[in-house]
Amino acid sequence: MNNKKTRGGISTTTALVAALSVGSADAVQAADGATLYQEKVCHSCHGANPDEPTIPAYPKLAGQNAVYSLQQMKDIRDGRRTNGLSIAMKAVVGSVTDEEFQIIAEWLQTQ
Ligand code: HEC
Repeated sequence: MNNKKTRGGISTTTALVAALSVGSADAVQAADGATLYQEKVCHSCHGANPDEPTIPAYPKLAGQNAVYSLQQMKDIRDGRRTNGLSIAMKAVVGSVTDEEFQIIAEWLQTQ
């Protein structure tokens, strides 16, 4: 292998492949947050754009501080927060892990 000659091409390709192969915890965090938000069906209530929930009774999540969002997600999943329509979310996020919530929360903060 002639690393010097092909280095630029290889690293560009590697970066593209890494960005496309989502689903791994090792992938780029920003991409993971967006992907998890879709895979865990958060978007069905909080909106494809987390600033535009599907109905006004659901909260906007974009731009919220990650530390706050993460706590709310865990409280709703674990039944500590039961106000309003929390029960609707609790019904679908039971299997989402703390790590997945954290990645989503950090992504939401940047939206
Ligand atoms: C079935 C609809 C639904 C789904 C799916 C859903 N949520 Fe929610 N979520 C809600 C509702 C409704 C609330 C507000 C509860 C209330 O009325 O107080 C909420 C609240 C939240 C909050 C707290 C917002 C705040 O300002 O306190 C966060 C953060 C959140 N959801 C994140 C998520 C994430 C992340 C997912 C996906 C893993 C998700 N939600 C999936 C309906 C949903």
